[in-house]
Amino acid sequence: MTRSRPANPLLETSTRPAPRRVAVIGAGTIGPDIGYYLKAALPGLELALLDVRQAAVDAALARLKGYADKAVARGKMSDKAAQATLAGITGGTDYDVLRGCDWVIEAATEDLALKLRIFAEVEARVDAGTAITSNTSSLPAQRIFSRMAHPERATVTHFFAPAWRNPVVEVVAWARAEASLVAWLRRLFVQTGKLPLVTADVPCFMLDRIFDNWCNEAGLLLGEASAAQIDSVAAEFVQAGPFFVLNLAHGNPIIIETNTLQADEEGEHYRPAPIFRSVDRWNAVAPGREIEVPEPLRSRIRDRLLGVLLSQTVDILDRDIGGAADLDIGCRLALGFRHGPLELMRSMGPAECTRVLERFVRERPGMPAPRRDPAAYLPAERHVLVDQRDGVVLITLRRPEALNALHDELTDEVLAVIRRHEDDPKVAGFVIVGYGTKSFCAGADIGRFPSLLGDKEAAAQYARDCSRLLVHLDRARKPVVAALNGMALGGGFELATRCHALIAERSAWMQLPEVTLGILPGIGAMVVPYRRWPDAALVFHGMLTRGDRLKAARAHELGIVDELADGYDDLIARAVARVHALAGHIPTISDAPVAVPPFAPGAGTGGPVLSGTVIGIIEHAVRDAAMAPTLAAALEVGYRAFGTVACTAAAREGITAFGERRPPDFGATG
Ligand code: CAA
Repeated sequence: MTRSRPANPLLETSTRPAPRRVAVIGAGTIGPDIGYYLKAALPGLELALLDVRQAAVDAALARLKGYADKAVARGKMSDKAAQATLAGITGGTDYDVLRGCDWVIEAATEDLALKLRIFAEVEARVDAGTAITSNTSSLPAQRIFSRMAHPERATVTHFFAPAWRNPVVEVVAWARAEASLVAWLRRLFVQTGKLPLVTADVPCFMLDRIFDNWCNEAGLLLGEASAAQIDSVAAEFVQAGPFFVLNLAHGNPIIIETNTLQADEEGEHYRPAPIFRSVDRWNAVAPGREIEVPEPLRSRIRDRLLGVLLSQTVDILDRDIGGAADLDIGCRLALGFRHGPLELMRSMGPAECTRVLERFVRERPGMPAPRRDPAAYLPAERHVLVDQRDGVVLITLRRPEALNALHDELTDEVLAVIRRHEDDPKVAGFVIVGYGTKSFCAGADIGRFPSLLGDKEAAAQYARDCSRLLVHLDRARKPVVAALNGMALGGGFELATRCHALIAERSAWMQLPEVTLGILPGIGAMVVPYRRWPDAALVFHGMLTRGDRLKAARAHELGIVDELADGYDDLIARAVARVHALAGHIPTISDAPVAVPPFAPGAGTGGPVLSGTVIGIIEHAVRDAAMAPTLAAALEVGYRAFGTVACTAAAREGITAFGERRPPDFGATG
């Protein structure tokens, strides 16, 4: 794989416009799902579904309508959006529907001869500029596109089920694909809410090498354990055991096919377990219903499953099939692993990794062994992407599954990147931006909060710990600019306000939603905004006590946002320029106490019922922090207030309600 592409796909430059007319070939399960995702993301798009059977097309069209109806019924989509999603979709059996398409996606059966015929039909009908991609999960691009007249406009885009919701899509960077095609696809996928992961052109690409071999190893273990026992042991690592998933996906023929391909290309050790040919359904266990597995069988199954996972992981990294951070996030989001394999390796430690891998390759000769020390495989960053432009380091927060919410590891990675580069004379400074087009950062990760409820000291210490990065920014030697590409909420807004300048896309917005969760923003929002932009104090009062939203344009009028940008490219360009402009005059936050206007009596009324107790704690903290003689003392007021609020009934109710996806009832908690 070439190494020159930017880590953040939105930094790719591509002159190819967004697609206007797309055809999907194959109206089975995944083809229409891909079409639905595209139509929901780009409602103006014309979509044509093509299949050899009209009945399959009709069933697919009915299914898409069902998806939209369900989304409306669940309040996930407005009526208008559903109508726009379903408009402009046609279907048929005649290849002539491909004429005029600027992107054709093949999602037919995994059959090389069939795919070769399909691409001949496609090329006979589309323009030279049309992008052509295949959703194959296993067949290398160099085979399926081998007979094309213009293979440079073709590659593999491998989606994961259900393709309308699963964010992951592998994009294969094969030798003959134009770099601009891969760049366009990566960018387009991120713009439409997907998580593109670039892989090399090998059988099964990156993630299915994990999935197929994980399932195959489970099949090979069946002589020693039952499917239910294996699923039960696997539950430590995955949301659903291999046999449960194989039942769900009718996956036995897939394992036979894909592991045969790997065996033919790479060696007998990949040959599929013969049992996959003779069994139709497995006696699997559903997630959460494990059965007892006695020792030492449990350890044996565990070692084998871990062994195949780690063996494939080191092979993928040694052969540069994909990147370590991509492998981790892909395993979690596409395949349902609880932790990525690199995260597992880190928690196991080098000695245990070596033990598991040595045992595995002894028992399964031919399977890949590590070529380096296990510690050498661990990526420096798993949750941030790092790029450079014009002497500025661009740090992209990438946790799309949580709208880029901050947890300890992500925060520490940002800090580590800054520390690594701040003494480098070639680096002028840093830009922090969010992955995707929706969110800069949705705040602190709420998943951590339940464990803090009721523990004043632990909660206050958590807030202090979360502030490591922010306190570093307060005395940074090089400018750090926040590039707000979407929502900046809670801790995300707090991070932005500690950066030395804020640039925001016009559609970006800020909010301190903590009060709606029965808590408060304890890592600076009750302190820093008042000291930096005292004239906007009343706006901050409203944000803190009512959860008011602040749009980028208004924040610009108030001087909080330094510049507004039109789109991601403009945002990055302005942020980079601002870093250079700030060289030598990084603004600092005043230590001096600041006057804050009184809170209006009855603040927090008028909207949804909020907690009077929490609002009271916030008002006190803001006043105390304003009078504090130093910034550090003021911040400490915030940390302690976070400890206090964590012990309220309102916090317990708000955090529990978020987890249960229901509105909180602060009327009952006060
Ligand atoms: N922490 C953890 N996960 C988060 C998150 C957060 N702060 N914000 C969003 N997510 C997760 C959601 O739980 C959801 O996960 P699932 O798909 O597994 O359900 C995923 O991100 C996508 O979010 P939604 O489906 O909710 O997306 P939406 O567009 O419908 O709503 C939203 C977006 C309004 C931002 C909503 O996600 C939300 O209200 N999030 C919470 C924001 C918040 O309160 N932030 C402040 C955190 S507290 C803090 O920051 C305190 C501090 O100072 C220390």
